[in-house]
Amino acid sequence: MSSNQGLFISFEGIDGAGKSTHIGRLAQAFTASGRTVVLTREPGGTALAEQLRALILNQPMDALTEALLIFAARRDHLQNVIVPALARGDVVLCDRFTDATFAYQGFGRDFDLGVLTQLELWVQTAPGLALVQPQLTLWFDLPPSVAAQRLAGARVPDKFEAQPVAFFERVASGYAAREQADPKRFARIDAQQTVDAVWLSVHAALRQRAWLP
Ligand code: TMP
Repeated sequence: MSSNQGLFISFEGIDGAGKSTHIGRLAQAFTASGRTVVLTREPGGTALAEQLRALILNQPMDALTEALLIFAARRDHLQNVIVPALARGDVVLCDRFTDATFAYQGFGRDFDLGVLTQLELWVQTAPGLALVQPQLTLWFDLPPSVAAQRLAGARVPDKFEAQPVAFFERVASGYAAREQADPKRFARIDAQQTVDAVWLSVHAALRQRAWLP
């Protein structure tokens, strides 16, 4: 791939799956290969979307309100950060994107998948463009019981992190369903390995696509 083509990569997995370390390492690897990297996250990534994030993660609300706020934040983030960065030819590394909404709201909260599909179409279609989706989604797959042990006592949990293991079992099955629906977009990373072995898997997924040397 030529270096002036934008690249959109998302990172997914249940809370505690350990994606953060690898997002940083991947940013360094892309920078070292001469690419400009935009590191961002969802919900969030713009001043408005970060304000919505604080509400989404900390305020109780019904599932439709939550889904609407998440997609409102996503729209602002796409318009102001992601789409312009891709147009410049940058590498966008996004900590979570729409797969998280299907996994957490759709499967975790049992919210209507048809409504989420409709919102995905509305929000991720820019004028004159096809649906904006990551070209690659690195899915850090970890059994929820292991993630719970990793998270125990780590920090004050937000609304989602405080959910029981059964919630994360549903979220994990949501990620599996998204992968099955679009397997070419996903690279499943076994997040139970050591940090270094996880990194080798991440790096291999990028090399396989010839996006990193
Ligand atoms: P983070 O802790 O990985 O930044 O993610 C924030 C939390 O928000 C995490 O518990 C997952 C949740 N979340 C959703 O429920 N729906 C979404 O669409 C996104 C992007 C995150």
